Amino acid sequence: MILKLFKRLMFLFMLPVILPSTGSIAQTQSSIAQIQNKIVPGELWPDQNGNHIQAHGGGILKMGNTYYWYGEERRKGLDSNYRYVSCYASKDLMNWQFKGDALKMTDPHQLGKNWVLERPKVFYNSKTKKYVMYMHIDGQVKGMEGNYKYAQVGVATSDNPAGPFQYLKSFRPLGQESRDIGQFVDDDGSAYLIFEDRPVKGFHIAKLSDDYLTVEKEVCLIKAPLEGGAIVHYKGLYYAIGSALTGWQANPNKYATATSLSGPWSEFKDIAPPETKTYGAQSTLMLKIVGSKTTSVIFMGDIWRPKTQWDSRYLWMPLEIGDGKLWLPEPKPWTINVKTGECTSPI
Ligand code: GAL
Repeated sequence: MILKLFKRLMFLFMLPVILPSTGSIAQTQSSIAQIQNKIVPGELWPDQNGNHIQAHGGGILKMGNTYYWYGEERRKGLDSNYRYVSCYASKDLMNWQFKGDALKMTDPHQLGKNWVLERPKVFYNSKTKKYVMYMHIDGQVKGMEGNYKYAQVGVATSDNPAGPFQYLKSFRPLGQESRDIGQFVDDDGSAYLIFEDRPVKGFHIAKLSDDYLTVEKEVCLIKAPLEGGAIVHYKGLYYAIGSALTGWQANPNKYATATSLSGPWSEFKDIAPPETKTYGAQSTLMLKIVGSKTTSVIFMGDIWRPKTQWDSRYLWMPLEIGDGKLWLPEPKPWTINVKTGECTSPI
């Protein structure tokens, strides 16, 4: 009897280890913390509670040895009057702890019931000690036709990484239309907003002001009709990637390089076999991990499911990058050691 009880307890204790780290079980086992020992592109990605991570169109902020992942919170059952930005924390990029909704707000500019808050990105300003969130704010504007005509960035701040963030304002950066946004922090700590500008068919790289609360100056306008813009500075070269303007539908994402952020930028080339349409994903960020042994760059993309957004997936893969070339390998499960910077295939 006692032996039986002991065995049962041992079984429960071992569950996190023997359960598959992803899959349908992950959604139901919400009370059991599971250890993630790999990243599986395209699959459900459970947080510490076993719920699929909701951080779509996301960005990453590293503070000390903690990574914060912010994104669009699209879980089922949300109050449709609000828009939500989620915050997750991790020390190894594989196991993520849900820290709650960092921002929750109602329509700030009378944009109508279809208003959107997309692609939130958070920067930390060491001078003001504020966490500054940028987001794409848009919707149905009275008296104007259709959606996505507002084309502005919103700004919110917080004293803590997990929020609550207070919404401050929206504006058109440099007076231009802005839809998809991206974030880039250079090795010297300078922070930039990347934003897509439809009328000029390109995307801007713009430096943030000292307090990060506004966009100060244009660094470059890359004349390519791309969105989901992301930049990484790797071994003396800047690499920019972006996706074509096909809404929720995947397309072949492309990259260009430059020795300076202000350009000139090379022509854009495919990051993956074009027929795979970036393996169904759309770029949102490139994350550089500088480790003791090597530096890795991770492609972060969204595999959108527009009709069931809570089920949208992520495609994170280490890029093959260097000497002016960038390539997204075929997605497969992989692991990372953030201390050494090394990425490997799982055992
Ligand atoms: C995509 C964009 C998404 C979302 C979507 C709406 O092009 O990257 O963030 O705005 O369009 O159709």
